[in-house]
Amino acid sequence: MTEPTHNQKLFIETVGCQMNMLDSELVVAALRKDGFSLTDDITQADTVLFNTCSVREHAEQKIYSALGRLKFSKRERPNQVIGVIGCMAQKDQKLIFKRAPHVDLVVGTGQLAEIPRLVAEARENRERKLAVSLSRRDATRTEVAGSFLSYDPLRDPEMRPSPFQAFARIMIGCDKFCTYCVVPMTRGPEQSRPALDIVAECRQLAHEGVKEITFLGQTVNSYKFVQEGRTWRLSDLISAVHDIPGLDRIKFVTNYPKDMTDDLLEVVRDLPKVAKYLHVPAQSGCDDMLKRMKRGYTVAHYRDMMERIAATVPDCAVSSDFIVGFCGETDEAHQKSLDLIREFRFKNSFIFKYSPRGGTKAYQLYADDVPEDVKRARNHEMLALQNSISEEDNALRIGRTYEVLVEGLSKTAKKDLHGQEFSADSPSLRTGSVPSAPAPTDVGHDHDHDHDHDCGREPVVLDLPLAELSPTPSAAPEYRPQLVGRTMCDRIVVFPGNPRLVGSLARVQVEDCTQTTLIGSIVTREVQHGSSSALPILV
Ligand code: 5AD
Ligand code: SF4
Repeated sequence: MTEPTHNQKLFIETVGCQMNMLDSELVVAALRKDGFSLTDDITQADTVLFNTCSVREHAEQKIYSALGRLKFSKRERPNQVIGVIGCMAQKDQKLIFKRAPHVDLVVGTGQLAEIPRLVAEARENRERKLAVSLSRRDATRTEVAGSFLSYDPLRDPEMRPSPFQAFARIMIGCDKFCTYCVVPMTRGPEQSRPALDIVAECRQLAHEGVKEITFLGQTVNSYKFVQEGRTWRLSDLISAVHDIPGLDRIKFVTNYPKDMTDDLLEVVRDLPKVAKYLHVPAQSGCDDMLKRMKRGYTVAHYRDMMERIAATVPDCAVSSDFIVGFCGETDEAHQKSLDLIREFRFKNSFIFKYSPRGGTKAYQLYADDVPEDVKRARNHEMLALQNSISEEDNALRIGRTYEVLVEGLSKTAKKDLHGQEFSADSPSLRTGSVPSAPAPTDVGHDHDHDHDHDCGREPVVLDLPLAELSPTPSAAPEYRPQLVGRTMCDRIVVFPGNPRLVGSLARVQVEDCTQTTLIGSIVTREVQHGSSSALPILV
């Protein structure tokens, strides 16, 4: 009798941005079709995948440490297949085998469709497998683009982190080549996906019960696709998806300041399902720095864009990213970034200390000359400023009522329910124990959610099966845990309510706030109560 060779348990750790979250969702779905099931116990899995991020060095170090810890696990499990996939795989390629010889698979962002086959082959013949796309230096743009395949198989609703929220990739790659950034290398040339495929995917998602779709792209507002004689821009795509019945909200991240066109702002203004929220990273408030970063705009251009946003979509929330301690950043340059934050009062900002990345122009051309303690001090100073602005702006909202898309239990409620930090065994992607990539210091965000990378909203993980959210008979009818949701402007709101509201829109009146969160209670409708006064009825 032949011994069973491998179990079908899969452990996957995902770090980085929403693009990585989506990639993991799709990879897991494909492997589930081959009979795999997820486990959050790495010691039980014969297949271990790390979906990686290269944007900052720290994120890579975490993965190499996690790999280091696995060094001897093959003694226990000689059949184990260990794979490094995503951005680090594309960037470091064979170096990964050198640094971690027990790794079996290295699969870049443009080759993810190959994973089921490569896992099967690695099991079969125990040979190392490398599947990466062409390097941007080694071939023409067309050839390189052809080697980065957008990975968008048919969706498996079971694999979504939340049944009513989904990401939809509308483009891959980036051609902006900001001098500090590794993404044009790790994700390849900018390529927009066919508009009609995206619309069909969104229709399918809505049919499956999805209420909120977030379009993903490294520079999402640069989207352009010519199909059947028609040129589609992001505004056209949004309009087409807006017509799909069942959807309540449409968002898109991340925007590139230079591509913020008026047609896009007009659909944000005119279409009721589109979030009045834009994530448009400024990166710096100093023209010299912006030039060195090769961002392609000046502070004056950015200001012009902000004025157009304010004029077209009054009350639109805007969030940003900043890099502190970029090569040559003086105290004066740093002060200019603080001034920019004071001027535009962002809803929140993600703040990153500059991390030199091999293969980028900044790495080749400029010395990383801002000492670490100065970077840290600037980071703290910027964060403190943004925090105080966010808190002041949140306080202005006390007393107002907002329509909130209810996302799930708040962190506090999850802790109450489980007596500890909740870790789901539902098909959440956060199955691993390896800490995620270093979070930027950000404000305006519920720390319910893991986050890294640029996009102005982090993935929302509803990591409880919906059945578990229903009140238990013993607790009913008072069971009204703290729920969390977001306003149309992407502001986080917590409030007590019936967990059955998860996935629906509720009206919440704000009563208090913190730097990151509005605190309120639900108002469903107003009815006459004997007297003539209209009283809110709480669910
Ligand atoms: N060092 C620090 N931050 C970086 N970012 C991108 N590359 C680097 C780097 N080398 C930041 C930018 C970008 C976000 C995703 O990460 O602010 O918007
Ligand atoms: Fe592209 Fe954004 Fe990186 Fe610039 S920062 S190269 S726009 S991914």
